[in-house]
Amino acid sequence: MRFPVVFLFAALLAACGAADPEAPPPPPETSAAPVSAAPASVAAPPPSSPADHGAALYAKLCALCHGTDREGYAADNAPSLKSSTFLETATEAFLRDAIVFGRPGTAMAGYGRQVGGPLRPNDVAALVAFLRRDAPPPVALPPESMAGNVANGKVIYDRECASCHGTQTQRGTAVHLANIQLLASAPPGFLRYALVHGRPGTKMEPWGGKLDARAQDDVLAYLRSLAMPVPTAPSGPPPVPPWGPIVINPKGKAPTFDLREGRYASVDQVGKALQAGRKMIIVDARAPSDWLKMHITGSLPLPYYQLDLVDRLPNDGTTVIAYCACPHHASGVVVDELRKRGFKNAYVLDEGVYAWQQKGFPVVAAEGFEKFPSPPHDHHGHDHHGHKH
Ligand code: HEC
Ligand code: HEC
Repeated sequence: MRFPVVFLFAALLAACGAADPEAPPPPPETSAAPVSAAPASVAAPPPSSPADHGAALYAKLCALCHGTDREGYAADNAPSLKSSTFLETATEAFLRDAIVFGRPGTAMAGYGRQVGGPLRPNDVAALVAFLRRDAPPPVALPPESMAGNVANGKVIYDRECASCHGTQTQRGTAVHLANIQLLASAPPGFLRYALVHGRPGTKMEPWGGKLDARAQDDVLAYLRSLAMPVPTAPSGPPPVPPWGPIVINPKGKAPTFDLREGRYASVDQVGKALQAGRKMIIVDARAPSDWLKMHITGSLPLPYYQLDLVDRLPNDGTTVIAYCACPHHASGVVVDELRKRGFKNAYVLDEGVYAWQQKGFPVVAAEGFEKFPSPPHDHHGHDHHGHKH
Protein backbone atom coordinates (compact mmCIF):
# COMPACT_ATOMS: atom_id res chain seq x y z
CA MET A 1 0.00 0.00 0.00
CA ARG A 2 2.70 2.36 1.09
CA PHE A 3 4.90 2.46 -1.98
CA PRO A 4 2.19 3.17 -4.58
CA VAL A 5 0.94 6.03 -2.46
CA VAL A 6 4.35 7.55 -2.04
CA PHE A 7 4.94 7.06 -5.73
CA LEU A 8 1.66 8.77 -6.57
CA PHE A 9 2.72 11.77 -4.56
CA ALA A 10 6.11 11.91 -6.15
CA ALA A 11 4.43 11.78 -9.55
CA LEU A 12 1.99 14.50 -8.62
CA LEU A 13 4.69 16.75 -7.34
CA ALA A 14 6.76 16.15 -10.42
CA ALA A 15 3.76 17.04 -12.55
CA CYS A 16 3.13 20.22 -10.62
CA GLY A 17 6.78 21.12 -10.90
CA ALA A 18 6.59 20.76 -14.64
CA ALA A 19 3.56 23.02 -14.86
CA ASP A 20 5.14 25.69 -12.74
CA PRO A 21 8.88 25.24 -12.99
CA GLU A 22 10.82 25.69 -9.81
CA ALA A 23 12.86 28.77 -10.35
CA PRO A 24 14.70 30.90 -7.84
CA PRO A 25 12.55 33.75 -6.58
CA PRO A 26 12.59 36.73 -8.91
CA PRO A 27 14.95 39.52 -7.89
CA PRO A 28 13.23 42.41 -6.17
CA GLU A 29 11.35 44.80 -8.44
CA THR A 30 13.60 47.63 -9.52
CA SER A 31 11.53 49.36 -12.20
CA ALA A 32 9.67 51.46 -9.62
CA ALA A 33 12.88 52.82 -8.11
CA PRO A 34 13.06 56.60 -7.87
CA VAL A 35 14.59 58.21 -10.96
CA SER A 36 17.30 59.90 -8.96
CA ALA A 37 18.66 56.59 -7.69
CA ALA A 38 21.94 55.20 -8.94
CA PRO A 39 21.80 52.85 -11.93
CA ALA A 40 19.67 49.80 -11.23
CA SER A 41 22.61 47.42 -11.34
CA VAL A 42 24.18 49.23 -8.40
CA ALA A 43 21.06 50.25 -6.50
CA ALA A 44 19.32 46.88 -6.62
CA PRO A 45 20.10 44.70 -3.63
CA PRO A 46 21.61 41.36 -4.65
CA PRO A 47 18.90 38.77 -5.31
CA SER A 48 18.37 36.88 -2.09
CA SER A 49 19.26 33.22 -1.88
CA PRO A 50 16.43 30.68 -1.78
CA ALA A 51 17.17 30.02 1.90
CA ASP A 52 16.82 33.76 2.67
CA HIS A 53 13.55 33.84 0.79
CA GLY A 54 12.54 30.76 2.82
CA ALA A 55 13.49 32.49 6.07
CA ALA A 56 11.22 35.42 5.23
CA LEU A 57 8.36 33.08 4.34
CA TYR A 58 8.95 31.16 7.55
CA ALA A 59 8.70 34.32 9.66
CA LYS A 60 5.48 35.31 7.95
CA LEU A 61 3.71 31.97 7.72
CA CYS A 62 5.16 29.45 10.13
CA ALA A 63 6.70 31.12 13.18
CA LEU A 64 3.38 31.76 14.90
CA CYS A 65 3.04 28.01 15.51
CA HIS A 66 6.51 26.52 15.13
CA GLY A 67 8.25 29.36 16.98
CA THR A 68 10.62 32.07 15.76
CA ASP A 69 13.60 29.72 15.94
CA ARG A 70 11.74 26.56 14.76
CA GLU A 71 11.74 25.26 18.32
CA GLY A 72 8.07 24.26 18.13
CA TYR A 73 5.12 24.62 20.49
CA ALA A 74 4.40 28.32 20.02
CA ALA A 75 0.94 26.87 19.27
CA ASP A 76 -0.47 23.62 20.59
CA ASN A 77 1.00 20.44 19.07
CA ALA A 78 3.26 22.20 16.55
CA PRO A 79 6.49 20.17 16.69
CA SER A 80 10.07 21.32 16.63
CA LEU A 81 11.46 21.64 13.13
CA LYS A 82 15.06 21.74 14.28
CA SER A 83 15.79 18.73 16.47
CA SER A 84 18.85 16.84 15.26
CA THR A 85 17.04 13.56 14.66
CA PHE A 86 14.23 15.31 12.77
CA LEU A 87 16.67 17.03 10.44
CA GLU A 88 18.70 13.83 10.03
CA THR A 89 15.66 12.07 8.59
CA ALA A 90 13.40 14.78 7.16
CA THR A 91 14.24 14.56 3.47
CA GLU A 92 13.40 17.34 1.06
CA ALA A 93 10.48 15.30 -0.23
CA PHE A 94 9.15 14.75 3.28
CA LEU A 95 9.33 18.45 4.13
CA ARG A 96 7.79 19.40 0.80
CA ASP A 97 4.85 17.03 1.33
CA ALA A 98 4.25 18.36 4.84
CA ILE A 99 4.29 21.96 3.64
CA VAL A 100 2.28 21.46 0.45
CA PHE A 101 -0.39 19.09 1.73
CA GLY A 102 -0.33 19.81 5.47
CA ARG A 103 -1.68 17.30 7.98
CA PRO A 104 -5.43 17.06 7.43
CA GLY A 105 -7.47 17.25 10.61
CA THR A 106 -4.75 19.14 12.52
CA ALA A 107 -3.70 22.78 12.73
CA MET A 108 -1.12 22.16 9.97
CA ALA A 109 -2.79 23.43 6.80
CA GLY A 110 -1.68 22.67 3.27
CA TYR A 111 0.33 25.66 2.05
CA GLY A 112 0.78 24.53 -1.56
CA ARG A 113 -1.04 26.43 -4.24
CA GLN A 114 -2.37 23.18 -5.67
CA VAL A 115 -4.51 22.71 -2.57
CA GLY A 116 -5.55 26.35 -2.17
CA GLY A 117 -2.61 27.61 -0.13
CA PRO A 118 -0.37 30.62 -0.87
CA LEU A 119 2.90 28.95 -1.92
CA ARG A 120 4.24 28.27 -5.40
CA PRO A 121 6.69 25.42 -5.92
CA ASN A 122 9.68 27.77 -5.76
CA ASP A 123 8.43 29.17 -2.43
CA VAL A 124 8.08 25.65 -1.04
CA ALA A 125 11.58 24.82 -2.27
CA ALA A 126 12.86 27.99 -0.58
CA LEU A 127 11.23 27.00 2.73
CA VAL A 128 12.77 23.55 2.46
CA ALA A 129 16.17 25.12 1.72
CA PHE A 130 15.74 27.33 4.79
CA LEU A 131 14.72 24.41 7.04
CA ARG A 132 17.64 22.35 5.74
CA ARG A 133 20.20 25.17 5.93
CA ASP A 134 22.80 24.17 8.55
CA ALA A 135 21.00 20.83 8.93
CA PRO A 136 23.03 17.69 9.52
CA PRO A 137 23.18 15.58 6.35
CA PRO A 138 20.38 13.01 6.13
CA VAL A 139 21.44 9.67 7.61
CA ALA A 140 21.08 6.56 5.48
CA LEU A 141 18.03 4.81 6.85
CA PRO A 142 17.91 1.04 6.74
CA PRO A 143 15.01 -0.39 4.73
CA GLU A 144 12.01 -0.79 6.99
CA SER A 145 11.57 -4.30 8.35
CA MET A 146 8.17 -5.61 7.38
CA ALA A 147 8.13 -8.03 10.31
CA GLY A 148 6.02 -7.14 13.31
CA ASN A 149 2.79 -8.16 14.91
CA VAL A 150 0.09 -5.55 14.48
CA ALA A 151 -2.11 -6.72 17.37
CA ASN A 152 0.80 -6.82 19.76
CA GLY A 153 1.95 -3.46 18.45
CA LYS A 154 -1.42 -1.94 19.29
CA VAL A 155 -1.12 -3.16 22.87
CA ILE A 156 2.30 -1.54 23.20
CA TYR A 157 1.15 1.62 21.46
CA ASP A 158 -1.88 2.04 23.70
CA ARG A 159 0.24 1.47 26.77
CA GLU A 160 3.33 3.53 25.92
CA CYS A 161 2.53 6.04 23.21
CA ALA A 162 -1.16 6.96 23.16
CA SER A 163 -0.94 9.25 26.20
CA CYS A 164 1.04 11.71 24.09
CA HIS A 165 0.30 10.74 20.48
CA GLY A 166 -3.41 9.99 20.83
CA THR A 167 -5.23 7.24 19.01
CA GLN A 168 -6.92 7.13 15.62
CA THR A 169 -9.94 8.97 17.00
CA GLN A 170 -8.50 11.01 19.84
CA ARG A 171 -5.62 13.32 19.66
CA GLY A 172 -2.92 14.01 22.21
CA THR A 173 -0.44 16.84 22.54
CA ALA A 174 2.27 15.33 20.32
CA VAL A 175 2.32 14.88 16.51
CA HIS A 176 -0.70 12.80 15.49
CA LEU A 177 0.99 9.62 14.26
CA ALA A 178 -2.22 8.13 12.84
CA ASN A 179 -2.41 11.01 10.38
CA ILE A 180 -3.01 9.85 6.82
CA GLN A 181 -0.56 12.35 5.32
CA LEU A 182 2.26 11.63 7.77
CA LEU A 183 1.97 7.89 7.21
CA ALA A 184 1.87 8.33 3.45
CA SER A 185 4.94 10.53 3.24
CA ALA A 186 7.25 9.32 6.03
CA PRO A 187 10.14 7.61 4.24
CA PRO A 188 10.92 4.03 5.28
CA GLY A 189 12.84 4.11 8.54
CA PHE A 190 11.74 7.64 9.46
CA LEU A 191 9.37 6.55 12.22
CA ARG A 192 11.78 3.94 13.59
CA TYR A 193 14.62 6.46 13.77
CA ALA A 194 12.43 8.83 15.79
CA LEU A 195 11.29 5.99 18.03
CA VAL A 196 14.79 4.66 18.71
CA HIS A 197 16.63 7.99 19.03
CA GLY A 198 13.84 10.28 20.22
CA ARG A 199 13.72 13.97 19.40
CA PRO A 200 16.38 15.68 21.54
CA GLY A 201 15.14 18.82 23.21
CA THR A 202 11.50 17.68 23.18
CA LYS A 203 9.30 15.35 25.20
CA MET A 204 10.04 12.49 22.78
CA GLU A 205 12.55 10.30 24.59
CA PRO A 206 14.72 7.69 22.90
CA TRP A 207 12.91 4.36 23.19
CA GLY A 208 15.79 2.31 21.80
CA GLY A 209 16.80 1.10 25.25
CA LYS A 210 13.25 0.64 26.49
CA LEU A 211 11.64 -1.37 23.69
CA ASP A 212 13.52 -4.35 22.23
CA ALA A 213 13.76 -4.81 18.45
CA ARG A 214 10.74 -7.10 18.41
CA ALA A 215 8.55 -4.60 20.27
CA GLN A 216 9.76 -1.82 17.96
CA ASP A 217 8.80 -3.92 14.93
CA ASP A 218 5.38 -4.54 16.42
CA VAL A 219 4.63 -0.92 17.24
CA LEU A 220 5.78 0.21 13.79
CA ALA A 221 3.75 -2.53 12.10
CA TYR A 222 0.72 -1.23 14.00
CA LEU A 223 1.37 2.35 12.89
CA ARG A 224 1.85 1.22 9.29
CA SER A 225 -1.44 -0.67 9.45
CA LEU A 226 -3.19 2.69 9.99
CA ALA A 227 -1.93 4.09 6.67
CA MET A 228 -4.50 4.77 3.98
CA PRO A 229 -4.16 5.94 0.41
CA VAL A 230 -4.23 9.73 0.26
CA PRO A 231 -6.90 11.24 -1.98
CA THR A 232 -5.48 12.41 -5.28
CA ALA A 233 -4.55 16.07 -5.16
CA PRO A 234 -6.26 18.28 -7.73
CA SER A 235 -4.18 18.99 -10.80
CA GLY A 236 -4.46 22.75 -10.63
CA PRO A 237 -4.98 25.23 -7.85
CA PRO A 238 -8.57 25.04 -6.63
CA PRO A 239 -10.23 28.42 -6.95
CA VAL A 240 -10.96 30.02 -3.61
CA PRO A 241 -14.39 31.51 -4.36
CA PRO A 242 -14.96 35.24 -3.91
CA TRP A 243 -16.51 36.23 -0.60
CA GLY A 244 -20.24 35.70 -0.29
CA PRO A 245 -22.39 37.96 1.93
CA ILE A 246 -20.20 39.43 4.66
CA VAL A 247 -22.67 39.90 7.51
CA ILE A 248 -24.59 36.88 8.82
CA ASN A 249 -28.16 37.71 9.94
CA PRO A 250 -27.83 41.40 8.94
CA LYS A 251 -31.25 42.18 10.47
CA GLY A 252 -30.55 40.33 13.74
CA LYS A 253 -29.72 41.81 17.13
CA ALA A 254 -26.09 42.02 18.24
CA PRO A 255 -24.94 39.01 20.27
CA THR A 256 -23.71 39.32 23.84
CA PHE A 257 -20.91 37.11 25.08
CA ASP A 258 -19.47 36.39 28.47
CA LEU A 259 -15.88 36.80 27.33
CA ARG A 260 -12.77 35.26 28.79
CA GLU A 261 -10.06 37.89 29.24
CA GLY A 262 -12.18 40.28 27.21
CA ARG A 263 -11.07 38.46 24.09
CA TYR A 264 -12.23 34.84 23.83
CA ALA A 265 -15.83 33.81 23.11
CA SER A 266 -16.61 30.14 23.69
CA VAL A 267 -17.85 27.82 20.96
CA ASP A 268 -21.11 27.24 22.86
CA GLN A 269 -21.90 30.94 23.14
CA VAL A 270 -21.07 31.77 19.54
CA GLY A 271 -22.91 28.67 18.27
CA LYS A 272 -26.02 29.55 20.23
CA ALA A 273 -25.92 33.19 19.15
CA LEU A 274 -25.77 32.05 15.55
CA GLN A 275 -28.70 29.69 16.07
CA ALA A 276 -30.64 32.54 17.68
CA GLY A 277 -30.21 34.65 14.52
CA ARG A 278 -27.78 37.18 15.97
CA LYS A 279 -25.93 39.52 13.65
CA MET A 280 -22.21 38.84 13.19
CA ILE A 281 -19.31 38.34 10.83
CA ILE A 282 -17.25 35.17 11.08
CA VAL A 283 -13.80 35.02 9.52
CA ASP A 284 -11.59 31.95 9.07
CA ALA A 285 -7.98 32.83 9.85
CA ARG A 286 -6.48 29.60 8.48
CA ALA A 287 -4.94 29.06 5.06
CA PRO A 288 -7.80 28.84 2.53
CA SER A 289 -6.85 25.22 1.75
CA ASP A 290 -8.40 24.39 5.11
CA TRP A 291 -11.40 26.67 4.54
CA LEU A 292 -12.13 24.78 1.30
CA LYS A 293 -12.25 21.44 3.13
CA MET A 294 -14.39 22.52 6.06
CA HIS A 295 -15.44 25.85 7.51
CA ILE A 296 -18.09 27.38 9.75
CA THR A 297 -21.16 27.97 7.63
CA GLY A 298 -21.22 31.62 6.56
CA SER A 299 -17.57 32.28 7.39
CA LEU A 300 -15.20 34.11 5.04
CA PRO A 301 -11.57 33.14 4.43
CA LEU A 302 -9.30 35.84 5.90
CA PRO A 303 -5.91 34.16 6.33
CA TYR A 304 -3.60 35.44 9.08
CA TYR A 305 -1.04 36.36 6.43
CA GLN A 306 -3.40 38.41 4.23
CA LEU A 307 -4.56 41.09 6.62
CA ASP A 308 -5.32 43.66 3.92
CA LEU A 309 -8.60 41.76 3.47
CA VAL A 310 -9.71 43.44 6.70
CA ASP A 311 -10.32 46.54 4.55
CA ARG A 312 -13.35 44.81 3.16
CA LEU A 313 -15.14 44.34 6.48
CA PRO A 314 -17.57 47.02 7.68
CA ASN A 315 -16.06 48.80 10.68
CA ASP A 316 -19.41 49.74 12.20
CA GLY A 317 -19.49 47.86 15.47
CA THR A 318 -20.74 44.60 13.99
CA THR A 319 -19.40 41.69 16.03
CA VAL A 320 -16.54 39.89 14.26
CA ILE A 321 -15.50 36.39 15.32
CA ALA A 322 -12.19 35.01 14.04
CA TYR A 323 -11.34 31.35 14.34
CA CYS A 324 -8.61 28.89 13.46
CA ALA A 325 -7.54 25.39 14.48
CA CYS A 326 -4.44 26.06 16.56
CA PRO A 327 -6.83 27.14 18.32
CA HIS A 328 -5.84 30.82 19.02
CA HIS A 329 -2.75 31.79 17.17
CA ALA A 330 -3.88 32.55 13.64
CA SER A 331 -7.24 33.91 14.84
CA GLY A 332 -5.38 36.00 17.43
CA VAL A 333 -3.35 37.66 14.68
CA VAL A 334 -6.55 38.62 12.87
CA VAL A 335 -8.26 39.91 16.01
CA ASP A 336 -5.21 41.99 16.91
CA GLU A 337 -5.34 43.58 13.46
CA LEU A 338 -9.08 44.25 13.74
CA ARG A 339 -8.66 45.85 17.15
CA LYS A 340 -5.71 47.89 15.94
CA ARG A 341 -7.98 49.28 13.25
CA GLY A 342 -10.67 50.18 15.75
CA PHE A 343 -13.11 47.29 15.34
CA LYS A 344 -14.93 47.47 18.67
CA ASN A 345 -16.29 43.94 18.92
CA ALA A 346 -13.70 41.54 17.53
CA TYR A 347 -13.20 38.25 19.36
CA VAL A 348 -11.40 34.93 19.07
CA LEU A 349 -13.44 31.72 18.97
CA ASP A 350 -11.93 30.20 22.08
CA GLU A 351 -11.64 26.47 21.41
CA GLY A 352 -11.24 26.69 17.65
CA VAL A 353 -13.00 25.22 14.65
CA TYR A 354 -12.50 21.54 15.42
CA ALA A 355 -14.27 21.91 18.77
CA TRP A 356 -17.06 23.72 16.90
CA GLN A 357 -17.34 20.83 14.45
CA GLN A 358 -17.25 18.21 17.19
CA LYS A 359 -20.03 19.94 19.11
CA GLY A 360 -22.23 19.67 16.05
CA PHE A 361 -22.45 23.35 15.12
CA PRO A 362 -22.86 23.91 11.38
CA VAL A 363 -19.89 23.48 9.06
CA VAL A 364 -19.70 23.11 5.29
CA ALA A 365 -17.10 22.46 2.63
CA ALA A 366 -16.64 24.75 -0.35
CA GLU A 367 -18.63 23.76 -3.41
CA GLY A 368 -17.04 20.78 -5.11
CA PHE A 369 -15.17 19.70 -1.98
CA GLU A 370 -16.05 16.79 0.18
CA LYS A 371 -16.46 17.82 3.79
CA PHE A 372 -13.51 16.64 5.78
CA PRO A 373 -14.48 14.00 8.33
CA SER A 374 -14.43 14.96 11.98
CA PRO A 375 -10.81 15.19 13.14
CA PRO A 376 -9.53 13.29 16.18
CA HIS A 377 -11.05 14.59 19.40
CA ASP A 378 -8.98 16.55 21.81
CA HIS A 379 -9.42 14.17 24.73
CA HIS A 380 -7.20 16.09 27.08
CA GLY A 381 -9.90 18.67 27.27
CA HIS A 382 -7.10 20.94 28.39
CA ASP A 383 -8.27 24.46 28.31
CA HIS A 384 -6.13 27.08 26.74
CA HIS A 385 -6.12 29.52 29.61
CA GLY A 386 -2.98 31.50 29.74
CA HIS A 387 -2.21 30.85 26.09
CA LYS A 388 -2.51 34.16 24.44
CA HIS A 389 -0.74 33.95 21.17
C1 HEC B 1 -1.49 27.10 12.74
C2 HEC B 1 -0.31 26.48 13.24
C3 HEC B 1 0.72 26.05 12.22
C4 HEC B 1 1.27 26.81 11.22
C5 HEC B 1 0.98 28.26 10.88
C6 HEC B 1 2.22 25.95 10.56
N1 HEC B 1 2.25 24.72 11.13
FE1 HEC B 1 3.45 23.16 10.58
N2 HEC B 1 2.53 21.98 11.94
C7 HEC B 1 1.59 22.40 12.85
C8 HEC B 1 1.16 21.28 13.63
C9 HEC B 1 0.14 21.32 14.75
C10 HEC B 1 1.86 20.15 13.14
C11 HEC B 1 1.75 18.72 13.61
C12 HEC B 1 0.49 18.11 13.07
C13 HEC B 1 -0.19 17.29 14.12
O1 HEC B 1 -0.85 17.90 14.98
O2 HEC B 1 -0.03 16.07 14.10
C14 HEC B 1 2.73 20.64 12.09
C15 HEC B 1 3.61 19.83 11.36
C16 HEC B 1 4.55 20.31 10.48
C17 HEC B 1 5.58 19.52 9.86
C18 HEC B 1 5.81 18.03 10.06
C19 HEC B 1 6.74 17.80 11.22
C20 HEC B 1 6.88 16.38 11.67
O3 HEC B 1 7.64 16.14 12.61
O4 HEC B 1 6.22 15.49 11.14
C21 HEC B 1 6.33 20.35 9.09
C22 HEC B 1 7.54 20.00 8.25
C23 HEC B 1 5.74 21.68 9.23
N3 HEC B 1 4.67 21.62 10.07
C24 HEC B 1 6.22 22.80 8.60
C25 HEC B 1 5.54 24.03 8.59
C26 HEC B 1 5.92 25.15 7.77
C27 HEC B 1 7.16 25.21 6.90
C28 HEC B 1 4.99 26.13 7.99
C29 HEC B 1 4.88 27.48 7.31
C30 HEC B 1 4.66 27.43 5.88
C31 HEC B 1 4.05 25.62 8.96
N4 HEC B 1 4.42 24.35 9.30
C32 HEC B 1 2.98 26.35 9.46
C33 HEC B 1 1.09 23.68 13.00
C34 HEC B 1 1.35 24.74 12.16
C1 HEC C 1 5.83 11.94 26.80
C2 HEC C 1 5.14 12.05 25.52
C3 HEC C 1 5.52 11.04 24.44
C4 HEC C 1 5.50 9.66 24.50
C5 HEC C 1 5.10 8.78 25.68
C6 HEC C 1 5.89 9.19 23.20
N1 HEC C 1 6.13 10.27 22.38
FE1 HEC C 1 6.68 10.18 20.41
N2 HEC C 1 6.82 12.20 20.34
C7 HEC C 1 6.47 13.03 21.37
C8 HEC C 1 6.64 14.39 20.93
C9 HEC C 1 6.33 15.64 21.74
C10 HEC C 1 7.10 14.31 19.58
C11 HEC C 1 7.43 15.48 18.68
C12 HEC C 1 8.75 16.06 19.13
C13 HEC C 1 9.17 17.24 18.30
O1 HEC C 1 8.76 18.38 18.61
O2 HEC C 1 9.92 17.03 17.33
C14 HEC C 1 7.20 12.92 19.26
C15 HEC C 1 7.62 12.45 18.04
C16 HEC C 1 7.52 11.13 17.63
C17 HEC C 1 7.76 10.65 16.31
C18 HEC C 1 8.17 11.50 15.12
C19 HEC C 1 6.96 12.00 14.38
C20 HEC C 1 7.27 13.02 13.32
O3 HEC C 1 6.42 13.23 12.45
O4 HEC C 1 8.33 13.65 13.34
C21 HEC C 1 7.51 9.31 16.31
C22 HEC C 1 7.61 8.35 15.15
C23 HEC C 1 7.13 8.95 17.67
N3 HEC C 1 7.14 10.08 18.45
C24 HEC C 1 6.79 7.68 18.04
C25 HEC C 1 6.46 7.34 19.37
C26 HEC C 1 6.10 5.99 19.77
C27 HEC C 1 5.99 4.80 18.84
C28 HEC C 1 5.91 6.05 21.12
C29 HEC C 1 5.58 4.91 22.06
C30 HEC C 1 6.55 3.85 22.12
C31 HEC C 1 6.10 7.42 21.55
N4 HEC C 1 6.44 8.18 20.46
C32 HEC C 1 5.95 7.87 22.84
C33 HEC C 1 6.05 12.69 22.63
C34 HEC C 1 5.93 11.40 23.10
